[in-house]
Amino acid sequence: MSWQRAAAASDLEPDQPLSVQVGDELVALVRTDGEVFAIRDECSHQRVMLSHGVVEDCTLECFAHGSRFDLRTGEALDLPATQPVPVYPVSIEGDDVLVDLDHPIH
Ligand code: FES
Repeated sequence: MSWQRAAAASDLEPDQPLSVQVGDELVALVRTDGEVFAIRDECSHQRVMLSHGVVEDCTLECFAHGSRFDLRTGEALDLPATQPVPVYPVSIEGDDVLVDLDHPIH
């Protein structure tokens, strides 16, 4: 595992995605349902930023065409997106949000 600090946990508002650069990757951090999730901040349909989307029921909805992605698995739940988006393990240590880009969950 190679954990990298992505943000301060105290900066994450519930259901408000936060886009952060972690290494070479842009990641959307989402606090919802009492957990924090990390998903690549790029829709698999047309490469827009998922962090501009809406959080609901542990999904993140792309603002462009409405595909929802499961924050636990990255699975695309609606068309037009058909491909998943990588999601990453998250660890909270004190006020640090750590993500492991080397070991995507799916
Ligand atoms: S760009 Fe995200 S659904 Fe089309």
